[in-house]
Amino acid sequence: MAQPQRQQRQQQQQQQPQRNRKYDLVVFGATGYTGKLTSEQVLQGTPSTLRWAIAGRSPQKLELLAHEYNRLYPDRVPVEIYIADLSEFSVERLASCTRLLISTVGPFIKYGTPVLEACAVYGTHYVDCTGEYPWVYEMIKRCHKTAKRKGAIIIPQAGFESAPIDWGTYALVKAVRDELGVGVTDVTFSVHNLKGQFSGGTVETAMTVFEHATLQELHEASQFDALSPIKGPEQPFRYPIRKDEDLGLLTSWINNSGDRSVVFRSWGLLDGGKYYGEQFTWKEYMRVTSYITAFIWMLLMNVAVIIPLISPLRWLVRKLFHPGQGEGPSEEARRTHSVEWRGVAIADEDTDTPRKAFVRVHSTIDAYTLTAVCLVQAANSILFNKNTMAAEMGGGILTPACLASPELFRLLDRAGLKIETKII
Ligand SMILES: NC(=O)c1ccc[n+]([C@@H]2O[C@H](COP(=O)([O-])OP(=O)(O)OC[C@H]3O[C@@H](n4cnc5c(N)ncnc54)[C@H](OP(=O)(O)O)[C@@H]3O)[C@@H](O)[C@H]2O)c1
Repeated sequence: MAQPQRQQRQQQQQQQPQRNRKYDLVVFGATGYTGKLTSEQVLQGTPSTLRWAIAGRSPQKLELLAHEYNRLYPDRVPVEIYIADLSEFSVERLASCTRLLISTVGPFIKYGTPVLEACAVYGTHYVDCTGEYPWVYEMIKRCHKTAKRKGAIIIPQAGFESAPIDWGTYALVKAVRDELGVGVTDVTFSVHNLKGQFSGGTVETAMTVFEHATLQELHEASQFDALSPIKGPEQPFRYPIRKDEDLGLLTSWINNSGDRSVVFRSWGLLDGGKYYGEQFTWKEYMRVTSYITAFIWMLLMNVAVIIPLISPLRWLVRKLFHPGQGEGPSEEARRTHSVEWRGVAIADEDTDTPRKAFVRVHSTIDAYTLTAVCLVQAANSILFNKNTMAAEMGGGILTPACLASPELFRLLDRAGLKIETKII
């Protein structure tokens, strides 16, 4: 489309104040595995007066879903369907018809850019479940300033990866600040327990990131403070296997880099690093029960990082482990899945034995339902809580921690994610 026509269209649509938009919320990717769970959470966890739509490229699939949702929830404002693909015109229309968009259309590095960009340009709030931090790194460079100027609160990485960890870290810091009056120097997290299986979209995404980013881009985005708005404090070397007196025997965890990228963006966004602490260090491990398991897991984690870099191995993983597009763990399997993280923060006290805070972040629901819960409760906070830190910041590409509030933690608790802290 010609540039002047595009500009004219944007100017006309941007003059529409957010409150006059047709929908409060749209779920884009509603026909996918995570999208369906997200719509179910919208039905269960948002006000019944919410004006909302499910969006995607397949009218037949959307109609079937909308029919079912409206049958099951007759007392709610009926859900509408919205046909959208990834063309510039389509995503701009989509972004301009709603106050908030939840996107579960992935791989995000392949499909996500026009969607997030349109939300930034049209001042539309946005939440997604990407775990692809190299893509988020690019989006921050490209869209943060526009989003802030337009007042769009944009929260990527708000799914199972990495929202619970970001909220858990915030909760630790807040407990230390509230009870001891200081910041923290060091936080260690462990994946204490994880039972689950991958969806087709997750396997596809893990293999796709490396087809769309160069090694140089991946290296840049993998720096611990790459997503932070300010340079982070130096991080000490830590052995990949170690025993922690509060968390037990720990080994390498594959999602340390992804979760760390979000945590350090939160660190930098919240009072320029002063709220968490200027000497803040952070690392995530996985808990194991013996040194042999620790060693085997450490090797497996290193192999898992290398596989997606090699094209024939990517082909093999797709062939052997891909459950199929739109597929994922069955409802019955999901009932047996759960996840728990534990974390410890050391208070920034000038003594040889500084006090500590402990957090337990545990979910009685599986990782995919948890993703849907995190997305929908993040959306609720943006739409209905005008006093979040994200609202005070006025928008931009932010993090789940920027939405943290007692109200959000209460809603998460009710939906199955419990975040409990204590000073130890
Ligand atoms: N990090 C986390 O915590 C987390 C958790 C869950 C999921 N995820 C991510 O979320 C993404 C989705 O996963 P999933 O398992 O739900 O995948 P999925 O079942 O394959 O769903 C993908 C969705 O995207 C839509 N889509 C794909 N290409 C499209 C296009 N060109 N135009 C419009 N729509 C398109 C699909 O529509 P059709 O039905 O029409 O094909 C479907 O609705 C993946 O990137 C996954 O990694 C991340």
